[in-house]
Amino acid sequence: MVPELESATVRILHPERVTGIIRSLKEQGTSKLQVISDFDMTLSRFGCNGRRCPTSHNILNDSRVISEDSKRKLKDLLHYYYPIEIDPNRTLEEKRPLMVEWWSRVHELLSQQSIRKGDIAQIVSESGVMLRDGFKELFDQLHKYNVPLFIFSAGVGDVLEEIIRQANVFYSNINVVSNYMDFDENGVLTRFKGPLIHTYNKNNSVLQGTEYFQELSTRTSIILLGDSMGDLTMADGVPSVENILKIGFLNDKVEERRGKYLGAYDIVLERDETLDVANGILRYILTET
Ligand code: TMP
Ligand code: MG
Repeated sequence: MVPELESATVRILHPERVTGIIRSLKEQGTSKLQVISDFDMTLSRFGCNGRRCPTSHNILNDSRVISEDSKRKLKDLLHYYYPIEIDPNRTLEEKRPLMVEWWSRVHELLSQQSIRKGDIAQIVSESGVMLRDGFKELFDQLHKYNVPLFIFSAGVGDVLEEIIRQANVFYSNINVVSNYMDFDENGVLTRFKGPLIHTYNKNNSVLQGTEYFQELSTRTSIILLGDSMGDLTMADGVPSVENILKIGFLNDKVEERRGKYLGAYDIVLERDETLDVANGILRYILTET
């Protein structure tokens, strides 16, 4: 059905269930389908050329417009909070206030740096960020078949939009909900707009007023792509889900987190830097025969 599922990076706890969901997604047809995806480390790569690829925040944090002193502070915050974010032994309740702390401190520091709206394109092009292999097929397929792509990100909206734009795949079927920068009349960053989105509040609570999922209420078939345990709630605001397939990228601390990921995601992709599995499933669902 989907040869990509035979890849060595793929782990599935209940193969028959997954086959059943994929069959149903195809039966329901393209007009019922929507894709909901995280951005950082899901659509973008975790590693590239033997190094870590930057997240949308880290593209800013490491850029030339940040003072050396602030760069050091932002790195210290990353080294303190990131292990907490991915710690399999802490509950989400424990992590939530700490993530609010992390994001707030980063946004505060960034807002003191006189970052200019006009600098973002160059900051992105110099950053070394990469989308996962196969991104063009993914974006092109969804656009061709008019399947809405909802990007739900705790990263920085202005930065991730620029990444997609520079990759020439920012099509009309894409909607983004993320943390957006607020600039003054001179185009200088003053603050971030609310509500604050962090790894563990990606649910309906930050979508109030967007009406996005209500407008797509007939799209009851969902493919969800994420890399964090916080991404599992991204579709909670969809009014009536009939079939949902959750695909999770397990990038880091693979052995420690495997059990939790297998229990939560239908398909787990271990150290897989490609979108091949998602593309294979979409090819099967979207094309005739
Ligand atoms: P998301 O991928 O769930 O949207 O979350 C964004 C990621 O960004 C999350 O894994 C933490 C990471 N991050 C940084 O790399 N640097 C930062 O300064 C902050 C606040 C978050
Ligand atoms: Mg992510």
